[in-house]
Amino acid sequence: MTVTALARYEATLAGLERKSRLRTLAPRQGIDFSSNDYLSLANCSRIAKALTAAIERGIPAGSGGSRLLRGNHWVHEALEAEAAMMFGAERVLYFGSGFSANVALFSTLPQRDDLIVHDELIHASVREGILASKAESVAVAHNDIASFEAAIDHWRADGGIGSPWIAVESIYSMDGDRAPLAALAEVAASRGGYLIVDEAHATGVFGPGGRGLASELRSQSNVLTLHTCGKALGLSGALMGLPDVLARYMVNRARNFIYSTAPSPLMAAGVREALQIIGDEPERRERLDALRDFLGDQLRSKLSITPSGSPIQPVIVGDNARAVRIAARLQNDGFDIRAIRPPTVPDGTARLRISLTLNVNKAQIAAMASRLAVALEKDGA
Ligand SMILES: Cc1ncc(COP(=O)(O)O)c(C=O)c1O
Repeated sequence: MTVTALARYEATLAGLERKSRLRTLAPRQGIDFSSNDYLSLANCSRIAKALTAAIERGIPAGSGGSRLLRGNHWVHEALEAEAAMMFGAERVLYFGSGFSANVALFSTLPQRDDLIVHDELIHASVREGILASKAESVAVAHNDIASFEAAIDHWRADGGIGSPWIAVESIYSMDGDRAPLAALAEVAASRGGYLIVDEAHATGVFGPGGRGLASELRSQSNVLTLHTCGKALGLSGALMGLPDVLARYMVNRARNFIYSTAPSPLMAAGVREALQIIGDEPERRERLDALRDFLGDQLRSKLSITPSGSPIQPVIVGDNARAVRIAARLQNDGFDIRAIRPPTVPDGTARLRISLTLNVNKAQIAAMASRLAVALEKDGA
């Protein structure tokens, strides 16, 4: 490529920098207030032992091909069967990542005559799938049940003949609040539609036995779920729960599933162990709940912030540059807290995203809240 051809990329990056939106890679440093390793399983000895045992039993690191060819290992199928039992789904399909699973789901299942109604704060991976979908789509106000209803009813009144698909996150990744799942399931059911619940930040953390917040809806065949494995489960991949017919349709039509090397069988073995752990070790969730309550008290008393009720706590500062400066100050103090800016969050809502995990203790939380209060004050809060 010539220098002039590359100059356009430099110009775009310079523009991002001017708006304090430039992204760069930073080393892993400081006390963890930014990972999604909620239950501290990413580095857990039980999973390490399960992986060692799997290697000794000859489970390979690489799958060697697509699931539809030689890449389909028995351990993928064992994981999917166990996950189906656990999450109360007729079938589960294991994907290499949550991003890929969402793209596969939204680009494959909603059909040309259908409507996808998604929360305005839905994750980028769902948006990417919607872009590739033939269905119509509309974004509606965050967690506003009436807006979901109205979007479907208007579409029907305008002659929409297919099925409506409602897309939400059970716990929103950048806000930490919950979707009104029971009401949305009702909206979907009463209009002959489906509800797709991305449980990325709820799996392992919320619901009975850590099975997620959609587990209360498990008997409903119009509810599809996505349980990512890179957050509370500490590994990688995603488990998509869906009716058998839709799973068979995905295997025949989902390009990300068909034309991609199957996930590592070793990773699948690790995820099987992680699912066991979230069932066997409820004390991890109890410890996380206690830390979350403690963080909530700290935020209320030191910063007058209302807690989100989940391990994800946004501290909205508005301006991009200010968010970056405050995050840098906290990083200098030894706390790994990141600034999240548009387009990941809406314009004018740049924030610090505090993520709470079992990788920290109460003393560290108290120290972080104090330093955060100082940083916000020094930077003109
Ligand atoms: C709500 C949500 N869905 C999907 C994903 C993507 O999952 P993965 O990290 O496994 O690709 C994420 C991760 O950022 C997420 O927060």
